[in-house]
Amino acid sequence: MADVLKKVLLEPSEISGRVSEMAGAISRDYAGREILVIGVLKGAFVFMADLIRALSIPCQTDFIRAASYGAGTESSGKIAITKDIEMDVAGRDVLVVEDILDSGLTLRYIVDALKLRNPRSVKVCAFLDKRKRRKVHFEADYVGYTMEDGFVVGYGLDFNEQYRFLPGVYVLDPAPEGEKEANE
Ligand code: XMP
Ligand code: MG
Repeated sequence: MADVLKKVLLEPSEISGRVSEMAGAISRDYAGREILVIGVLKGAFVFMADLIRALSIPCQTDFIRAASYGAGTESSGKIAITKDIEMDVAGRDVLVVEDILDSGLTLRYIVDALKLRNPRSVKVCAFLDKRKRRKVHFEADYVGYTMEDGFVVGYGLDFNEQYRFLPGVYVLDPAPEGEKEANE
């Protein structure tokens, strides 16, 4: 395990229990209906794969990708859809699945864009929620875990495209200043 990932936030066994609970709640809420699950690429694909397999209702799937223009780990506020869904949402019960809800800007943009296409309903399911970092009002309908600030990786979440494959969630702990200098 890389040194920068010393702190485990969520163990794989804990995650699978929580994902089953979330799938149970979703299946109860939509009992007798079929949902269209839309995953937000790339980060949500691991969570979404586990979530849909734990549902007891039928679902169809599609994916959307949004980019925020700005550097580093912060959303700039300017969002654009860079890969749209391929299915028609009109009249459908849509569940948007996201890895992590932070400022709220990305999901606010995606949900508003989908609502313009006349779905029957739109709800949001986020694996993690950094509630205190919201820049716009946004509440997810289903949340796996609420977390404090801090950058996390694993279970689909990346840092510079690394670590998505890890089965648990880790807090990214950048090398202390002294160490960085020593490595330069
Ligand atoms: P918003 O628009 O809610 O954006 O600020 C949420 C998106 O920001 C990314 N994000 C993270 N990605 N670890 C990550 O790997 C994190 O701790 C983290 N916090 C925010 C992520 O792409 C998410 O979709
Ligand atoms: Mg994401």
